[in-house]
Amino acid sequence: MVQFADFDTRGYPMVDVRTGYGQWADTYERTVEDIMDLALLEELTEPSWSTVRRTADLGCGTGRTAAWLRRNGVGSVIDGVDLTPEMLAAARSRGAHDHLYEADVTATGLAGGAYDLVIASLIDEHLADLRPLYAEAWRLAEPGALFVLVAFHPHFIMVSGMPTHFTASSGEPVAIDTNVHLLSDHVMAAVGAGWTLAEMRENVIDDRWLTVKPKWSRFRGHPFTAALVWRKPA
Ligand SMILES: C[S@@+](CC[C@H](N)C(=O)[O-])C[C@H]1O[C@@H](n2cnc3c(N)ncnc32)[C@H](O)[C@@H]1O
Repeated sequence: MVQFADFDTRGYPMVDVRTGYGQWADTYERTVEDIMDLALLEELTEPSWSTVRRTADLGCGTGRTAAWLRRNGVGSVIDGVDLTPEMLAAARSRGAHDHLYEADVTATGLAGGAYDLVIASLIDEHLADLRPLYAEAWRLAEPGALFVLVAFHPHFIMVSGMPTHFTASSGEPVAIDTNVHLLSDHVMAAVGAGWTLAEMRENVIDDRWLTVKPKWSRFRGHPFTAALVWRKPA
């Protein structure tokens, strides 16, 4: 198995998800750039967002993903699940979800077979094993449903040696449990759960990126994230 520690160039102290996002929640929206994930969602040819009936938003955080869904035509029920109370509180104030639950994405407690869209954006690197995520998404999905996953690209984590991190109130950088998942880890976990791949896009550092992250010119041409769209056969 690939270990993040073998690539870590920062050596920041590392905390668990709940501790890290609990401290990051207040400033999270100022540091996460839409180009990392939302720009990839814009490129997808499916789902047909306006026809989605019920969405499960796994690792919903402050509600950025759900807000994007609302802006892009999802008018029906969106249920969000997250492990971190402070992130859920921000999502609650934002009001893009119908229901919010504090739970692990691998055991959400949501109704099985009830969703025609399951989405998880920018959370995969926090999971040690992808298989329980793909299995839970499968359980939630109705026949014909899509599972949209925006994942950190393993290549970028390896080449940058950078974990997911934030600046604590002390001014010190703090990393949050980060794992490296090869694209084959995604494929084998998804196929093992029953999913078939419908679409995939990769987000490459380009001029648009460099206007947001000018210090990243050394990463030009490297992929940062990938969007995978999985289908549960009808
Ligand atoms: C980078 S944020 C992404 C939030 C949102 N999807 C977005 O795109 O802005 C990652 C979120 O995943 C949550 N998270 C990480 N691991 C989780 C797990 N195992 N179960 C539930 N939530 C988890 C964290 O609490 C955090 O709110």
